[in-house]
Amino acid sequence: MSEQTKIQKLNDKKAQSRLGGGQARIDAQHKKGRLTARERLDLLLDKGSFREVDAFVVHRTHDFGLDEQKYTGDSVVTGWGTIEGRLVYVYSQDFTVFGGSLGEVHAEKICKIMDLAMKNGAPIIGLNDSGGARIQEGVVALAGYADIFLRNTMASGVVPQISAIMGPCAGGAVYSPALTDFIFMTRNTSYMFVTGPDVVKAVTHEEVTQEELGGASVHSEKSGVCHVAADSEADTLYLIRKMLGYLPQNNMEDTPFVQTNDDPLRMDEALNEIVPDDPNKPYDIKEVIHMIMDDGNFFEIHEGYAQNVVVGFARLGGHSVGIIANQPSVLAGVLDIDASEKAARFIRFCDSFNIPIITFEDVPGFLPGTFQEHHGIIRSGAKLLYAYCEATVPKLTVITRKAYGGAYCVMSSKHIRSDVNFAWPTAEIAVMGPDGAVNIIFRKELEAAKDPVAKKAELVADYKEKFANPYVAAERGYIDDVIEPKETRPRLINALEMLSNKRDTSPAKKHGNIPL
Ligand code: HXC
Repeated sequence: MSEQTKIQKLNDKKAQSRLGGGQARIDAQHKKGRLTARERLDLLLDKGSFREVDAFVVHRTHDFGLDEQKYTGDSVVTGWGTIEGRLVYVYSQDFTVFGGSLGEVHAEKICKIMDLAMKNGAPIIGLNDSGGARIQEGVVALAGYADIFLRNTMASGVVPQISAIMGPCAGGAVYSPALTDFIFMTRNTSYMFVTGPDVVKAVTHEEVTQEELGGASVHSEKSGVCHVAADSEADTLYLIRKMLGYLPQNNMEDTPFVQTNDDPLRMDEALNEIVPDDPNKPYDIKEVIHMIMDDGNFFEIHEGYAQNVVVGFARLGGHSVGIIANQPSVLAGVLDIDASEKAARFIRFCDSFNIPIITFEDVPGFLPGTFQEHHGIIRSGAKLLYAYCEATVPKLTVITRKAYGGAYCVMSSKHIRSDVNFAWPTAEIAVMGPDGAVNIIFRKELEAAKDPVAKKAELVADYKEKFANPYVAAERGYIDDVIEPKETRPRLINALEMLSNKRDTSPAKKHGNIPL
């Protein structure tokens, strides 16, 4: 065979591999409004940066006539490339080959790039579009999943792991994405469930569609399994690129610095007016976040889920920060089970990857009621407490208004290793709100009063004067400084600079036992 023919053979094989399951299946994929595995990688990665590995791999199965059906590269495209010039490892399941189902070699390809990602310290991004375990391969396919699950767990806290769900993701296959740090889903064309509608109907007699059972809306609003939902595949991939810009490559690196023209000393006068005089009136904490952060940017995580707490990434003075903020405009910013778990998981991500944590606090306490108690608010609240206590990254807190009861302790108080705690003059730091407090401690006086309404107003005013302010806490050093709201940006940036060499440790142990 001449050199020329050999090169021709190579090019033919590569062309065959690029065609996946063939043009008819590619057309069918497009008809469903979905892109192919390679088209997705083109959108995700910097132009021309993708380097594929294992394009010639074929499966080794003989059962069920599979030896007659071989596709070069099998059912997943793997390799590495760059996003904004930074290395990432990727795999993209190819639905046109056996429905993207995962067999032995499909799993081997994914494990190979996961191992490379771990050794070289760069994020792993998985684009999922698969019918699950390749049925014809039986237990070998299940073994392949388990090999991936182990690597997901080993990589957790070492390199960022991001999953995009861009088609079906069913059965035990959901557990690889679930073990990763962030799940992105595309609305209307992706779904995740442990058992599909048919099994649900057989077992529980419920009639439910795939979308109702595990579509992007369900997981981004009800279950919280999905962190970011987007309207199209292109948007989903764009948002992954954007989020990566806030993250370091691995747990040993600092976060990337992004130059900004936003003045670190900028003060926004509107902040001084944002907290309403009436403590029962809401305001939008996201407005506060936008006003303070570099260029007003905020990348929100879990936007549609447990909206009484807001979490996400932003930058201050060019450095990435993770934000956790009570949201007074949803359920008065109360902490419930979902909000506690949402915030706790985000804190642990930030702490794993050296991202300082900024907490904006306006919280009336934990949500009372039988539902919350019976479903374990004690355990969930403890998760949030544990996550804050355990975190050793720089921690800054700004109390904008209410810091009541246990929630004062939990929301990054000084006592649990927060580094710098500011309060606005509107802060109210107390065991409980004035109304409730007066009802309890002055019950007898109120019963005996000739005019209970006037008496209560007087006692509430006294209580407010005494406790519903930041100064009692500041007198004890629980608050480092009371600042004008408009000063918040420069003060946070200054505090972050002051903490830039922070080192803190916890006692040596195998690992702690977070109340799961
Ligand atoms: C082998 C599969 C497959 C699978 C799909 N295909 N799923 N091949 N193993 N798991 C093949 C089909 O035979 C078909 O081949 C092609 O992929 C496209 O599938 P269609 O059914 O035509 O596509 P569509 O109508 O879009 O339906 C997609 C689907 C459906 C909803 C994913 O295929 C489906 O229900 N598949 C089975 C899902 C499932 O039960 N998987 C096992 C889950 S349990 P041709 O040649 O016609 O193109 C599991 C355990 C994991 O995954 C445990 C880990 C611990």
